[in-house]
Amino acid sequence: MPGWTIGIESTAHTLSFGLVDSNGIPYPAFSDTVRPDQGGIHPREAADHHKDVAHTLFDKLLQEYNLSVRDISAIAYSQGPGLGPCLRVGAAIARGMSSMLDVPLIGVNHCVAHIEIGRQQCGCQDPVLLYVSGGNTQVIAHLDGKYRVLGETLDIGIGNMLDKFARNQGIPFPGGPVIEKLAREWLSQNENPSLNGLELPFAVRGMDLAFSGIMTAAQRLIDNGAELGAVCWSLQEHSFAACVEIAERALSHTGKTELLLGGGVACNSRLREMCDLMASERDSTSHAPPRMYCIDNGTMIALLGHIELENGRVTQYSDSAIDQYLRTDQTEVSWAV
Ligand code: ATP
Ligand code: FE2
Repeated sequence: MPGWTIGIESTAHTLSFGLVDSNGIPYPAFSDTVRPDQGGIHPREAADHHKDVAHTLFDKLLQEYNLSVRDISAIAYSQGPGLGPCLRVGAAIARGMSSMLDVPLIGVNHCVAHIEIGRQQCGCQDPVLLYVSGGNTQVIAHLDGKYRVLGETLDIGIGNMLDKFARNQGIPFPGGPVIEKLAREWLSQNENPSLNGLELPFAVRGMDLAFSGIMTAAQRLIDNGAELGAVCWSLQEHSFAACVEIAERALSHTGKTELLLGGGVACNSRLREMCDLMASERDSTSHAPPRMYCIDNGTMIALLGHIELENGRVTQYSDSAIDQYLRTDQTEVSWAV
């Protein structure tokens, strides 16, 4: 049955195909993430990875949902922000499919896609968003037809900070989940933990954040002989508290009462717990989508494509170039509140 929108995600480490049906109901995506043996992600190597796995992933998606290409009615793709070579692979696949199948093409803002899948999954109306991923850390609220950034990192994203700290300890990408596990294990063996000797700088700068100093300081603790699990715990406590603090101030300034988490770091149970606690203390609610929709996934791209299409927006080929530096607040959001 026609009416499916395919979403192609390729902003960085992951190529992912997801889909929504004609009513915008999402279905789990098929994804493949590049995991370098050593070092960080090399944009061109990641792009080559995406090119190599695209065919198999797309076949799996059609097989899993028993679809044929004739069932596809629109193609959405991440137009930005992200790594240029990776974005270009996704955009090229999207243009080719749109042309071959003669269906609309919709280039979408990756950050807004993280927000919209969260709003849909959690049933939030008008939340303050805490968008915490590898490349981005932002506190966002909707105002006058756009998602406005009220505060953000001034240097690296919180996920990149966790990944880099982990990499320095020999933990491969993505390091965030391993840091969470090491912190939890250490905590289970230390009933009354103290920050004594584990202090780190606080990352808050007004409504903004900065994470590179905290990473250097955490490394210094390791170099001075602190236990890895203890430092992971302290790193999470400090960096998450900074995010929660500016999210709380955003709730207070805007008068909104829902907090919505998004992005890969929103998978973290300790961050979710801290947000729940803060929200409950101010008669608000905190929400996080299922973990498969926090990390980068094609389904959120399909959903935003579907929403944009319903609001009459398609992307002409002449406007389909990728934008590595596309910002959350550059995209018109006519559908939300
Ligand atoms: P964006 O382009 O939106 O910045 P991204 O490319 O960083 O996205 P995501 O999948 O949104 O990709 O986020 C990946 C990040 O999430 C990585 O830095 C990873 O370490 C982090 N992450 C994933 N799970 C956890 C977890 N349980 N705890 C902490 N961090 C996590
Ligand atoms: Fe992302």
